[in-house]
Amino acid sequence: MNTHHMRPTRIDLAPATREAMVELLNRQLADTLDLYTQTKQAHWNVTGPQFQQLHELFDELAGQLIGHLDLLAERATALGGAARGTLRMAAAVSRLPEMPAGFHDGLAVVRLLADRYAALAASTRAAIETATRAGDAATADLFTEISRALDKALWFLEAHLQA
Ligand SMILES: [Fe+2]
Repeated sequence: MNTHHMRPTRIDLAPATREAMVELLNRQLADTLDLYTQTKQAHWNVTGPQFQQLHELFDELAGQLIGHLDLLAERATALGGAARGTLRMAAAVSRLPEMPAGFHDGLAVVRLLADRYAALAASTRAAIETATRAGDAATADLFTEISRALDKALWFLEAHLQA
């Protein structure tokens, strides 16, 4: 099995461009899947007086990440590449730090998640630039959509940290 094998397609982007975009999309897919599992981890293990509210917020944010995963993976496949979307494939290359194990006090876990959302938002913003420079406006637009959603998620998280 060749993990870098590209399928032929009638899409009018150069094969090298498509391959570069597939790599970029898979890199973002890995971090996003990692963040999805960490957000669910927070959903399950959050403790403290704001439990109910944070428990629900984290589930809503996790659901949004599922949507991003599908966008990223299906853009990669549309461009003729294979998506690398299992948990183990993602864990092997994710650039995010792991979430500490065990229970998490409400605001402490909001801080941990905010750091990770900020990291993903930053790499997504960089990916907009990379896709734009490569001449793939559609992939840049996809990253732009995700970037806007991540910035909003970060706002929801940071609102809890600002007294
Ligand atoms: Fe749940």
